[in-house]
Amino acid sequence: MSDRYPKGILMPAELTKEIREEKLYYVDHCPMTNEDRLFFDNSGGSFRLKSTHEAFAAVDNLPNCTGHGGVVSDYLDSMRTKATDALRTMFNAQDGCIVTSMTASIIIWDAIQAVIKSVPGTNVVTTELEHPCSYDSVETACKETGKEMRVAHTNKATGSIDPASVIELVDENTCLLSVIMTSNISGAIMDVETIVRECRKIKPDLYVVCDCVQHVPHGLVDMKACPVDAVGFAAYKFGGMRGLGAGWLSKRLSELPHSRLIRERADNWEMGGSAPGSYAQLVAMFDYVCWIGGHFVDTDDKRTLYEEGMNRIAWHERALLDHMLEGTDEIPGVRHIPGVHVISDNPDLTQRDLIVALTFDGKSCTDVAREYEKRGVIVNERVKESLYSARQVLSLGVDGIVRVTPLHCHTLEEIDRFLKITAEIAAL
Ligand SMILES: Cc1ncc(COP(=O)(O)O)c(C=O)c1O
Repeated sequence: MSDRYPKGILMPAELTKEIREEKLYYVDHCPMTNEDRLFFDNSGGSFRLKSTHEAFAAVDNLPNCTGHGGVVSDYLDSMRTKATDALRTMFNAQDGCIVTSMTASIIIWDAIQAVIKSVPGTNVVTTELEHPCSYDSVETACKETGKEMRVAHTNKATGSIDPASVIELVDENTCLLSVIMTSNISGAIMDVETIVRECRKIKPDLYVVCDCVQHVPHGLVDMKACPVDAVGFAAYKFGGMRGLGAGWLSKRLSELPHSRLIRERADNWEMGGSAPGSYAQLVAMFDYVCWIGGHFVDTDDKRTLYEEGMNRIAWHERALLDHMLEGTDEIPGVRHIPGVHVISDNPDLTQRDLIVALTFDGKSCTDVAREYEKRGVIVNERVKESLYSARQVLSLGVDGIVRVTPLHCHTLEEIDRFLKITAEIAAL
């Protein structure tokens, strides 16, 4: 897959320039404070694509209703088909259905509930690194059904979950495996492919739900290589709007009992008025990645274009990651700044997305995040006091981390600026 460049490779500078100037809003300047800044909190908020905004407005501003017949209504209806095609291509999936909701959390939560409540089995396997939207859903449904919840522990050195520690928990009575693709805390990419393959040797029809929220903006998800039953992601972390979670469900999961109107199709997971503008945004996101791919391969095949685009994003981000970790002779990387520690610093960058967890000697993560902001860098602290990160950070053996998350639009010069500011804060 994206391992051709183990240390990454930057996109051509002209392409980066075009992405920054033409494709995204507010890359280096905050319109609110009216100040230049480095926005390195893309695992939290993330940049918006101009095209998603425009695609949404063009469709959403039409007054017509879907399903009412007529030219415009039919056009609005066609958005769902287009989004379904885009997501199937994006995930390399043949069948199944797409689902949208207000958040990715709702989609992942509901998929987990559906499996635990109606698929036979006496236990459910998950991991310590899950976001609460999956972990708490597993715990809630297990309590309700009396199923045993089994939790695989974090490998502190890699910030990942070793496949063996998941596989040893699965047996022929496991009804569901819920596993995250990339940790939003450590940035580690789980080896979901090996996990799924080996677990299905034990339980061939095992249902798997995969939280892909943090991997989708950084790398490929491939249902042929890694066939799971549900993937969920958040549009706002991938160039789209807030208030839009999206997912893909396998046919068999989509047909499990779930909240739906009695006479609605069994595989429809959306209830009430649909939002064609949201579907249009998903297509615009997909087209953006294909557009990047088109700079490197000459083809009309959408999957090839998407794969190439996503690989180029992953490689560019890996080059930024390598630079942030190592720096140069003149500007030390975070690995070499006295008083700074990189948490779960796996030397194999192919197993990491561009999410870096730092701690600072003698300084709280919250104070460090505010010091960064004073110097024009937006990062985010993930700490044990937050219900969204307590279990995960503690499993890494720390009370909290400063999370640094640039994106593929950033440059080596910006990483250098960040490194100089980091050294300044460490020396305070
Ligand atoms: C790994 C992971 N899963 C799920 C979510 C929840 O996404 P949403 O805000 O769309 O519910 C997040 C949000 O940050 C996340 O990082």
